[in-house]
Amino acid sequence: MNAAARSVAQTAVPVPAEKIVRVYVWQWPVRIVHWVIFLSIGVLSFTGYYLYDPFIISRGHGAFLMGTVRFIHEVSGFVFLAAFLVRAYWFFKGNRWARWRQFLLIGREQWRGALNMLRYYLFLRREPESRVGHNPLAGATYTVVYTLVVIEILTGLALFNHALHSSVLGFFIGWLPWLISVQYLREIHFFVMFIFWAFFIHHIYSAWLMGIEERSGLVGSIFSGYKVLPADFVAADPASRRAKGFPVVGPGWAYRRLRRKATAEKKASAVSASMPQTKSSD
Ligand code: HEM
Repeated sequence: MNAAARSVAQTAVPVPAEKIVRVYVWQWPVRIVHWVIFLSIGVLSFTGYYLYDPFIISRGHGAFLMGTVRFIHEVSGFVFLAAFLVRAYWFFKGNRWARWRQFLLIGREQWRGALNMLRYYLFLRREPESRVGHNPLAGATYTVVYTLVVIEILTGLALFNHALHSSVLGFFIGWLPWLISVQYLREIHFFVMFIFWAFFIHHIYSAWLMGIEERSGLVGSIFSGYKVLPADFVAADPASRRAKGFPVVGPGWAYRRLRRKATAEKKASAVSASMPQTKSSD
């Protein structure tokens, strides 16, 4: 956020309501994919770790825990794959903040923003380099994350086919074990899981921190899709310059409900004021 916009957002003096706008930044496919990836990484990590080290020993006849865990791992793997395919489609069909351009450091503006953000994290700069969508450093980080998602999917499919020997799956992924041996594929598949865990810790920290810095409702935005920002900041956003129109929406449903209630109360009091008053008999 630039200095002027920040001062509008952070000033202690009440800001005129029309200067703060609510922007629909994260469309529902972005949010659904985000949470499906989050949940599937949770399930995949738990079941995957079990496949590596079966920390629960099943006893009794008919107990087939390893098979069940493996099955859950595979099903969640395909859910993870589906989520990624939806997101890949949305890189080309989504709004200005969902498109592929947001994730690449193209041009001076993006590089400057990413370096400034890095300086901010290294305590060499006071102001973060905010954007309406992802800041340039976050965008570049998500490129790495999605690349890791692809690596995890490819290695997972190759390991799956190593047991399945499907000709259809083999057609798509059979080339991979020719390039990298199955043991290394297993190693990579396992190692990437830890990178996801490390990313997760930093991701929560930075989302929380930036939410406090920007006062834009960043953490809530990945649930609702909306951020609350100064209008001039939205208009000056690099992504807005490239896209047509101004995607700002009016106040949300909660505010509209309050407005409706206030109007109804006003009407009711106006009606009661216009009614003839019954005089009390003395
Ligand atoms: C392993 C778990 C998670 C992964 C892999 C992950 C990954 C991602 C990715 C790739 C994006 C970019 C979305 C896009 O445009 O495609 C994103 C955005 C975001 N995530 Fe997560 N996420 C995880 C968990 C969480 C959790 C638990 C929260 C907590 C509330 C969270 C909050 C956010 C927020 C606020 C954004 C949008 C703002 C931004 O940083 O640019 N994430 N996440």
